[in-house]
Amino acid sequence: MTDTTIDRRPASPTDNSRLGGTTRYFSAEDIHAYYGESYIVQGVSLEVNRGEVLALLGRNGAGKTSTLRAIARAGSPEVRSGEIWLDGQAVHEMKAHEAAVAGIGLVPEDRRIIPGLTVHENLELAQIAEPKGWDIELLYERFPRLAERRKQEAVTMSGGEQQMLAVARALARNVKLLLLDEPYEGLAPVIVQEIERIVREIKEAGITTIIVEQNAVAALKLADRAVILDSGEVVFDGAAETVLNDAALREQYLAI
Ligand SMILES: Nc1ncnc2c1ncn2[C@@H]1O[C@H](COP(=O)(O)OP(=O)(O)OP(=O)(O)O)[C@@H](O)[C@H]1O
Ligand SMILES: [Mg+2]
Repeated sequence: MTDTTIDRRPASPTDNSRLGGTTRYFSAEDIHAYYGESYIVQGVSLEVNRGEVLALLGRNGAGKTSTLRAIARAGSPEVRSGEIWLDGQAVHEMKAHEAAVAGIGLVPEDRRIIPGLTVHENLELAQIAEPKGWDIELLYERFPRLAERRKQEAVTMSGGEQQMLAVARALARNVKLLLLDEPYEGLAPVIVQEIERIVREIKEAGITTIIVEQNAVAALKLADRAVILDSGEVVFDGAAETVLNDAALREQYLAI
């Protein structure tokens, strides 16, 4: 079946003005991943230019979280074939902790804030091993709410504040590719706006980001490009604006 609204061609390498090279900053190439015998990520390929924000979209169960976990080398799902490259490093050959050191920063949906520790201690813990990223004082400048609550036990904060901490913690490491899994989930609109501001600042700081979001319109407004998954396969790869302007495409694959 041919659908002219679907553009599966990757953008030409020449539009990556900031990279100045011939290869992509990040690429996942033909990833196949399984939970036990369940075949979930079915040959996903995606590329992100340095400093770009990519929105990874698709309906519930499309395979977005699984794709992020495959990229972060989470172990489950099990990646049986495909390659993952970040800034010239073969991430597909790494374990999760090695991928983290290489610069992959996954902020999972459940945020994984460490109980019993203050906000400040959570950030300090993120910097216990090299390579370090943003200075904690710089993080407090960018996340004033966290500065106010630096001595508070982190798990007693609101959902939005915990989301900010989860993002700040990733930035406290030397993150090259930030993977955000539904950062706006369950948050009030005013908090969503604050997280959006932070993602924009992260983008301005030149950090490459993949954002998965149910709130597709919000993600698309931030993103340069979008990839849509359906049943574990890429069904669209193109400009974020194209998805924003194509109601039929959104209805078909995003149900919005
Ligand atoms: N641990 C697991 N074991 C078995 N199957 C799983 C597991 N985790 C996810 N799946 C299945 O893999 C498929 C993709 O799930 P995934 O969580 O990647 O989707 P998603 O696009 O992130 O969805 P959502 O928008 O609901 O978060 C679903 O059919 C899901 O049931
Ligand atoms: Mg998910």
